[in-house]
Amino acid sequence: MENKIQKLIQAAKQAQLNSYAPYSNFKVGSAILADNGKVYAGCNVENAAYPLGQCAEAGAIAAMILDGGKKIVKILVASPNEKICSPCGGCRQKIKEFADKNTEILMCDSLDNIQSIDMNSLLPLAFELD
Ligand code: THU
Repeated sequence: MENKIQKLIQAAKQAQLNSYAPYSNFKVGSAILADNGKVYAGCNVENAAYPLGQCAEAGAIAAMILDGGKKIVKILVASPNEKICSPCGGCRQKIKEFADKNTEILMCDSLDNIQSIDMNSLLPLAFELD
């Protein structure tokens, strides 16, 4: 699993290079290890109409779904600086949609320090339809 995490860091950092963040200058990358064993990456994509900007996690989730992935085994968020970047509230709910109790959310700073948390700790009392 250790080397899977290395793969996620690499994929997220690669995605981060292409982040489009001219308004915040806060370039984020994300990578998912899906249930099919594949890795999907995303970066944040901002917009002049600020609320239309999309987070890196949303891009990675979209790539997974497009390719037929069903579940998030691990998701990593790569921060642009020496402080880890935790998923925003909306992204917590987006991740939860494809998570289970074993899903691991990893946050990595620019020096490759990693913190890990489970879904329930990241979003307790998540909204559910049933
Ligand atoms: N951002 C992400 O892409 N992921 C996060 O987990 C937190 C924030 C983006 C949104 C925006 O483009 C920029 O970072 C600053 O908020």
